[in-house]
Amino acid sequence: MLQRIEATCAYLKSKTSLRPEIAIILGTGLGGLVEEIKIETEIPYSEIPNFVQSTVKGHSGKLIFGTIAGVPVMAMQGRFHFYEGYSMQDVTYPERVMKIMGIKYLMVSNAAGGLNPEFKAGDIMLITDHINLFPEHPLRGKNDETFGTRFPDMNNAYNRDIFARAESVAAKNNIPYKKGVYVGNQGPTFETVAEYKYFRLIGGDTVGMSTVPEIIVAHWCGIKCFGVSIVSNALGDALNGIETSHEEVQKNTNMAKEYLKTLFRDLVVEINKM
Ligand code: HPA
Repeated sequence: MLQRIEATCAYLKSKTSLRPEIAIILGTGLGGLVEEIKIETEIPYSEIPNFVQSTVKGHSGKLIFGTIAGVPVMAMQGRFHFYEGYSMQDVTYPERVMKIMGIKYLMVSNAAGGLNPEFKAGDIMLITDHINLFPEHPLRGKNDETFGTRFPDMNNAYNRDIFARAESVAAKNNIPYKKGVYVGNQGPTFETVAEYKYFRLIGGDTVGMSTVPEIIVAHWCGIKCFGVSIVSNALGDALNGIETSHEEVQKNTNMAKEYLKTLFRDLVVEINKM
């Protein structure tokens, strides 16, 4: 695997002179963050050697190298979900590439269902922690010490220092936000009412189908992580018989787009000072 990753990185380094320390994964409905990036190079996933190829036609995704407020970043437009059929190795291949590319910080966003009864569609939740309910672990198998240790501690997976800076940025810009625990689930079904109650009972505030594998691998590699959920549907609705649709998820995530753009832009500047 390491040789394949090194080949991927050699190609990427030949395509850009930027050497960012910050990576960003642009989640569902949050592509608008791209407007904040001064793009230097864009590379479709399909052109990157050994990179994961999309199973969805017309949704190939691309890797963007550019700057936000003068700070170099590498951004993934399009991520890989376990429910699409990828192996956990494939889902988290980009994080291993990030490590070899010299990335030190990872910022991610996702669309998620709100479990906390106080959450409404369009809310932003800064992720304090996660509960991993995926049926397979991205670090299962022989451990490669180049990246990290066999039994990684997960205590500070959502880096507290970055989190504190995110709270200051939000306060400074009057961005309303919640905090809480993200439950990572394989999907692709949305929750039944009984599952909603169960995820709430075990301590979840939001639930979604991404992020957890990415954070596990990035944190294992020593990359400091930060994550945000956009509440796209309040699962309290499920209790009232209101159904969740993908279209609605997209619409509600758009509401939070402007806040998120500001939050991520200013946080990139703060992280650059770390
Ligand atoms: N459940 C799981 N994943 C999701 C949801 C949800 O309600 N909304 C957006 N992603």
